Amino acid sequence: MSRAALYDRTGGPEVLYVGEVADVQPQPGHVLLRVRAAGLNPFDSKMRAGFIPSDAPFPRRIGGDVAGTVAAVGDGSVYGDGTAIQVGDEVFGRAGGAIAERVVASASELAKRPEALPVEVAGGMWVAGLTAVSCLATIPIGEDDTVLVGGAAGGVGFVAAQLAVATGARVIGTASERNHELLRSVGVEPVTYGEGLADRVAGLGQVTAVIDAHGRDALDAGVQLGVPADRMVAIAAYAAVDELGVHNAERAARTPENLLELADDVVAGRLVFPVAATYPLDEVVAAFTAVDGSHAPGKIVVLP
Ligand SMILES: NC(=O)c1ccc[n+]([C@@H]2O[C@H](COP(=O)([O-])OP(=O)(O)OC[C@H]3O[C@@H](n4cnc5c(N)ncnc54)[C@H](OP(=O)(O)O)[C@@H]3O)[C@@H](O)[C@H]2O)c1
Repeated sequence: MSRAALYDRTGGPEVLYVGEVADVQPQPGHVLLRVRAAGLNPFDSKMRAGFIPSDAPFPRRIGGDVAGTVAAVGDGSVYGDGTAIQVGDEVFGRAGGAIAERVVASASELAKRPEALPVEVAGGMWVAGLTAVSCLATIPIGEDDTVLVGGAAGGVGFVAAQLAVATGARVIGTASERNHELLRSVGVEPVTYGEGLADRVAGLGQVTAVIDAHGRDALDAGVQLGVPADRMVAIAAYAAVDELGVHNAERAARTPENLLELADDVVAGRLVFPVAATYPLDEVVAAFTAVDGSHAPGKIVVLP
């Protein structure tokens, strides 16, 4: 047996508790991890709150991002390069229900953690990092672009904005004023979101592409500024995808290989991937209260 964050009904962070669960032996192509770090995401909160319907039985587990140590290996579990995963390997990636002492992960969603990548950073990278990669895979950005990134100080937006800067593009990012200096520090021109966004952005120059990593404000601004729909991508505005004809971020780029590239960028100092706070497993309610509220930029990570 080991301990995991669980909930018996949908609701706010207070429905979460830590309970005992049976450890399962990994099936072929899967491994059992001793979790060392598990990042929290708004998606986890939406599932817990019931905003995303699910018929999974209660008690339900929660979490997805993970870094941990391999404790047991199912048959045929290999990394993307074909090498065998071994007990004791330090890995990172994705595993459903990761906010726990132990979790089973698919080998196809794991990579070996570079030694120089801190475990609490590695444990929060999959969802935010690879969603950002997906945005740029969906609408390729280059040095002739001026990109508007909505929610540029958020988990996804901050990575997407930096990846766009790295292409040589000019990048304008929306954020609260308290985060403007952070955006400037990575080469992003900050602009405050809310009423009048399109006018403020128009005063800065002609936008050629939009990545909306928050909702649809930046997409609506893009429409007003004459950005073609096929140069705009959304990650959290499903209605806008239909109404405006913009892209959903495609999923094919969410691979361990792309995760390793991001990790190399972090280790080399080319990508800033902040951790806002860490919590022990027993404080999972406080950790999700922080995710659901307004917190410092960066990931909230549970260290079981
Ligand atoms: N489709 C997918 O696969 C996918 C994957 C990952 C995430 N998502 C979704 O994408 C959204 C963002 O995720 P995340 O992990 O980046 O969240 P996050 O780290 O909590 O960041 C959200 C950011 O939104 C900004 N924000 C708040 N109100 C805003 C507004 N009115 N206009 C523009 N920005 C605003 C905040 O900026 P300030 O702090 O500067 O106020 C905050 O930094 C969530 O809804 C999440 O569920 C979707």
